[in-house]
Amino acid sequence: MGETRLLLKHAEVPGIRHYDAYREHDGYKSVEKAFTMTPEQILEEVKTSGLRGRGGAGFPTGMKWSFLAKPEGVPRHLVVNADESEPGTFKDRYLMEFIPHLLIEGMIVSSFCLGANASYIYIRGEYAWIAEILEEAIAEAKANGWLGKDIKGSGFDLEIYVQRGGGAYICGEETALLESLEGKRGNPRIKPPFPAVKGAWGRPTVVNNVESIAAVVPIIMMTGAEYAKIGVGRSTGTKLISACGNINKPGVYEIDMTQTVEEFIFSDEFCGGISNGKRLKACIPGGSSVPILPANLLLTTATGQPRLMNYESLADGGFATGTMMGSGGFIVLDEDQDIVYHTYTLARFYRHESCGQCSPCREGTGWMEKILKRIDEGQGKMSDIDLLWDIQRKIEGNTICPLGDAAAWPVAAAIRHFRDEFEWHVLNPEECLTRNYGLAHYADPLEIKEQA
Ligand SMILES: Cc1cc2nc3c(=O)[nH]c(=O)nc-3n(C[C@H](O)[C@H](O)[C@H](O)COP(=O)(O)O)c2cc1C
Ligand code: SF4
Repeated sequence: MGETRLLLKHAEVPGIRHYDAYREHDGYKSVEKAFTMTPEQILEEVKTSGLRGRGGAGFPTGMKWSFLAKPEGVPRHLVVNADESEPGTFKDRYLMEFIPHLLIEGMIVSSFCLGANASYIYIRGEYAWIAEILEEAIAEAKANGWLGKDIKGSGFDLEIYVQRGGGAYICGEETALLESLEGKRGNPRIKPPFPAVKGAWGRPTVVNNVESIAAVVPIIMMTGAEYAKIGVGRSTGTKLISACGNINKPGVYEIDMTQTVEEFIFSDEFCGGISNGKRLKACIPGGSSVPILPANLLLTTATGQPRLMNYESLADGGFATGTMMGSGGFIVLDEDQDIVYHTYTLARFYRHESCGQCSPCREGTGWMEKILKRIDEGQGKMSDIDLLWDIQRKIEGNTICPLGDAAAWPVAAAIRHFRDEFEWHVLNPEECLTRNYGLAHYADPLEIKEQA
């Protein structure tokens, strides 16, 4: 079964990045339709669609919108999370780079529903050229009467602003994002209060992922009930997957979540199989934070069912034998990949990106990195593996924001499923040094950044 294209339907149309081609291909029709509806009717459609947030946690979007506080005389905001810094995740980039008007259209409908007159796109600093594409598209939308005062005679006013981040992964966490949007250091806030009550500048705010807001366009056009018919169970609609690693066809695919993981990896319509004729060893299916699974557990659930590319099936078995859909950053590892080395590089990333506010995350990520480094380089002891396990347990659930969990889960899953590789590193110190995985053998951007 191939792609089901709701979001990427017109992605390859020449010139679709610009207003004229976009408008010719049904662009801004959902805004016209939304203006014939009440905000309450739009909210009902989004709820009925079953859309779950595409940023990672999968929280129902309609429910989130219904929590938005509406105190008299206080402005409300929609903030689109375009930080996309999770390793392996590059789907929002594709959407914004090639069909920026789809996001703007979704923002107009969503802002109208939420009663927001000033909405923001917070975009990761490294996506500088995409920020320019968005700014150009916003200018085109405004020139054609889709933004500004009294849009198309609806009586609704909206301005959209693009805010560039400074390149910190933590600024993707919604409350850190809001701090950064306000011009402060991106430290996560303690919740409650949640952004729906006290968000940007203390005002009620909805923070949603780029893909979640883009999905509002097809939901309004086809109705929530029709959207909900696509997919399986509580995994409704389509999901963008950014596939990378040891595969023949890396790229961004739009799936309807009925595909098996096996189909997704091996069929020519998607990843096209493992590159260089190698065998599949493991996969991190939802961005670097979600648990890695070895090939056997990845393709089949613990009860022997083919595993599907959706929220429920990927999570089947809990963390003992399952994983998560996460952000849809699908990282495939072939038989030559060293799990200890990869876990170490992830641990380095999380240590580097910890904001340092809470000690389990600040200290724990540093300890995990150090221990993984010595195991990787053949300097570890057997007791280090248990120590590593203990440290990740003490981080999980004990921090202000989920970055702590995100740092702990990859380490836990690597030990759970690949303990023999950790033991191999301890027992074969000489061989570890000759496997070309040492830091000396490759240009490491973090290392370079730290030395500078
Ligand atoms: C460390 C960290 C980084 C995150 N990065 C992103 C991100 O880049 N993009 C995103 O949409 N959500 C990210 N999230 C999740 C957001 O906090 C939030 O749940 C999301 O933007 C909500 O949108 P959604 O409901 O549409 O998924 C991150 C969370 C954490 C803890
Ligand atoms: S868990 Fe880590 S990133 Fe999150 S607030 Fe605590 S120290 Fe900062």
